[in-house]
Amino acid sequence: MAEFVRVAGVSDVPMGSGRVFEVGDRSIAIFNVDGSFFATDNTCAHRGGPLGEGELEGEVVTCPWHSWEYNVRTGISLTTPSASVKTYDVQVDGEDVKVRL
Ligand code: FES
Repeated sequence: MAEFVRVAGVSDVPMGSGRVFEVGDRSIAIFNVDGSFFATDNTCAHRGGPLGEGELEGEVVTCPWHSWEYNVRTGISLTTPSASVKTYDVQVDGEDVKVRL
C-alpha cells in the first residue's frame, strides 16, 4: 500500500494558493483551501499546463494556460467534466504536508 510522503511544509503553501512540488519523477500540486490541504497531479488534462501555478478561488483552480477550471478536492474539471486530474490523500503531520503517493 502506498505510504504518506512529506511533500511540503505547511508554511510553503499560503492559504488561498497552490504550489508545485517535484517528488521523484512526479510533479504534484498542493493547494491550501482555507487551511485544508489538497493534492493533485500538476499536469492539466488539456495540454499539460501547471495547475499548481494557477489561480485558486475556493476549491477551484484555473489552469494558467487556457483557463480550464478544476475542483481540487475531486480533480474533476468544471470546464470539461469528462476530464480530470488524479487526486491524492493528504495528511498534515505537525508542520509537514504529506501525500499518499
Ligand atoms: S493546458 Fe490547462 S487549460 Fe490548456
